[in-house]
Amino acid sequence: MAETSKSPFVVVANRLPVDRDTGDDAAQWRASPGGLVTALEPVLRQHDGIWVGWPGSALDDYGQFEVDGLKLLPIELSSDEIENYYEGMSNGTLWPLYHDVVAKPAFHREWWDAYEQVNRRFAEAAAHSAAPDAVVWVHDYQLQLVPAMLRELRPDMRIGFFLHIPFPPTELFKQLPWRNQILEGLLGADLVGFQRPGGAANFARLVRLRLGHKNHRDRIVLDNGREVCARAYPISIDFASLEKLARTPGVRQRADEIRAELGGTRKIFLGVDRLDYTKGIRQRLRAFGELIVDGLIDVDDAVFVQVASPSRERVQQYVEVRHDIERWVGRINGDLGRIGRQPIHYLHSSYPREEMAALFQAADVMVVTPFADGMNLVAKEYVTCRYGNDGALVLSEFAGAADELKQAFLVNPHDINGMREAMLAAMRADPHDLSRRMRAMRKQVRENDIDSWAKNFLSDLAGRELASA
Ligand code: G6P
Repeated sequence: MAETSKSPFVVVANRLPVDRDTGDDAAQWRASPGGLVTALEPVLRQHDGIWVGWPGSALDDYGQFEVDGLKLLPIELSSDEIENYYEGMSNGTLWPLYHDVVAKPAFHREWWDAYEQVNRRFAEAAAHSAAPDAVVWVHDYQLQLVPAMLRELRPDMRIGFFLHIPFPPTELFKQLPWRNQILEGLLGADLVGFQRPGGAANFARLVRLRLGHKNHRDRIVLDNGREVCARAYPISIDFASLEKLARTPGVRQRADEIRAELGGTRKIFLGVDRLDYTKGIRQRLRAFGELIVDGLIDVDDAVFVQVASPSRERVQQYVEVRHDIERWVGRINGDLGRIGRQPIHYLHSSYPREEMAALFQAADVMVVTPFADGMNLVAKEYVTCRYGNDGALVLSEFAGAADELKQAFLVNPHDINGMREAMLAAMRADPHDLSRRMRAMRKQVRENDIDSWAKNFLSDLAGRELASA
């Protein structure tokens, strides 16, 4: 293994925060997809740590390197491992199983073998790059075996684990042929963090039922007397830096341009998601289309902009959901559009932070309607960009963010009529009512930002609160 500098703080996540741009200039890096990276990048910067992860495509050199002041240690995945560990076990088994089986999980033994093998590689790299007594923070469903592997390799370290997606109820988790191995893998950590209290409770219950470990509230006692704490730490975003960006003249001007391009006075509905079957994209577009068909919304008065960033494009269920959404967009635009007046603007692409901040500012109604979602940081980003205390948020009650953003127009995404009503109510709401709601939501995100999330987790991991809880 190439020589790396030893760090007192190590983040281990499947992806590095940057991906190699596969465009013309191979030397370019761009931000990786998803909420995990958005949330963790400022944490790593603050702690001057090293991030161990997969760069998303093959590199010539797998030694440690730096991008924009971040120390990164890339982990290589072979094409078989991408197929079996990443697309297979991570995104064909665990992702659907943990998201309420919205899609059917597949169970394949060769996927599991690759999962174990790749988890071991991550654990070895993290152990190798950590200084004595280091703090290592492992992230998400792709790496649930790493905590126990790390403990075996480096018992001197403090090991934290955070699950960014929901942790399923016992009845669903029990389907997994490797359920005990996953639980034991997670129990290698000193602190296991979840987005919602329900996830932490599901985990403690499973550990008791399946492995016989007793728990005292959120503390699980292992046979050797070691304690593992399982708690909820709702993740957040860097409120101050995103709000600052949203206030810059360039972003404000771009928001005006977007408004003008979409028709000036039309109300703008906005959806921003990775193109994923858990996000409920087709259902929200369908609700919007029905409002037009029923004459409750006129295409001269409103438009829906849906940004769907490409994701996991070789996994069959993602191929299907893309076709499904695109069929609906085509149908709604074909049936209900007029020249110069498309009801839906569908953008299958990802955009830089500045463009996203401008879109959030331009949108009158943000529509976030996942069937299941660990947190959903897009909802928090929208609220952060609305420094004028205007705009409305329609939010699924099945997103972790619904626990905190209670003043949103909350919906059940399985209920198309309910979504229609909420979207209409959000569009027609009195500005005073919207301002009251937005102020409260902004206060919540401002006071519970990414910094307080990381501080809470890391101070608990350091042992202060564990000892006194
Ligand atoms: C979610 C997951 C992350 C993942 C991201 C992007 O936010 O919680 O672990 O990295 O999606 O997905 P991808 O498969 O492209 O890494």
